[in-house]
Amino acid sequence: MDTTIDLTRVEMFAGRLATELGAALNAALIDIGDRLGLYRAMADGAALTAGELAGRTGTHERYVREWLNAQAAGGIVAYEPAGDTYTLPPEHAFVLADEDSPVNMCGHFQSAVAAMDARGRIADCFRTGEGMGWGEHSAHVCVGTERAFATAYRHQLVAQWLPALDGVVERLEAGARVYDVGCGHGASTVLLAEAFPASTFVGVDAHAGSIDVARERAAAAGVTDRVTFAVGTAQELDGEGYDLVCFFDALHDMGDPVGAAARAHAALAPGGTCLVVEPYAEDRIEDNLTPLGRTYYGFSTLLCTPGSLSQPGRAGLGTQAGEAKLSEVLRAGGFTAVRRAAATPFNLILEARP
Ligand SMILES: C[S@@+](CC[C@H](N)C(=O)[O-])C[C@H]1O[C@@H](n2cnc3c(N)ncnc32)[C@H](O)[C@@H]1O
Repeated sequence: MDTTIDLTRVEMFAGRLATELGAALNAALIDIGDRLGLYRAMADGAALTAGELAGRTGTHERYVREWLNAQAAGGIVAYEPAGDTYTLPPEHAFVLADEDSPVNMCGHFQSAVAAMDARGRIADCFRTGEGMGWGEHSAHVCVGTERAFATAYRHQLVAQWLPALDGVVERLEAGARVYDVGCGHGASTVLLAEAFPASTFVGVDAHAGSIDVARERAAAAGVTDRVTFAVGTAQELDGEGYDLVCFFDALHDMGDPVGAAARAHAALAPGGTCLVVEPYAEDRIEDNLTPLGRTYYGFSTLLCTPGSLSQPGRAGLGTQAGEAKLSEVLRAGGFTAVRRAAATPFNLILEARP
């Protein structure tokens, strides 16, 4: 074996890993900034000293100064030595300080950092092959996921994804019965109930803690007259006559996605539709080796794959299953017409019909 080492390449790689290390640590700092409202306190664009930001947020100046310097080194805030001040540019505030923005990324960081808490257990899973259930993670995983996905649902679900499905908006407006399977905290269920008051909705999730939160969310939104939530697995779905069965970023988390698809198929009314929203992925690994693919493979390794491997079936589809594999799963569940209805850089939206 040729052991000659190209020192220039070593230096380049070590430099790249140093950036990686800084980014990894900054994930925790972004989560802290989000929790303490540090970004929101800078969202007005004012140039602030560390002391002023600490004063605005009820925090200690020495910590805030160190945090700000890390943010400045990472290009998140700008540092002005003359006044010893820091500024959050409006474009960055749009991503980090505005919960309603279509590109807010704080939820992703909240769930990413919380998922890392499980790395010891996940390392053990690598050795044993066992799984780790969604509900066994920190509650921040669930809340971060809710925030991250709700951003996309708020801006795209009703405006773009549903109109891309054949005849579904008309049915929802007229009064449809909808199943939201793997509903988590119910962000999609509540949003749909707000948009289509003539329809009724059932959200189901295997994680009891998530269903408790979903009920609170429905009550806060004032939609409990048309939304009910229940603890249960997709494989046990009962009932029939549903016009729409949805899987929002949940099918790949399931141990038996074919069984779940078969139950969805059985639950549909004549002419009904199954909507499957999944993380965007290409079909081939080599085409997913992108910055976003990397993020999704990371979440998949820490959360989604262990979750699926904790359940009967242990399919372990992973977040990057891709359209071909997902369509195969839906066809194996009994659907004959499966097509890509829409796609964004972050999501694949599939329509499946009996
Ligand atoms: C990534 S979260 C998505 C939650 C929600 N749909 C959303 O978009 O915010 C995946 C959800 O699927 C649920 N889940 C996983 N396997 C399930 C199964 N077999 N049956 C029902 N729910 C399941 C998990 O408990 C979790 O709430």
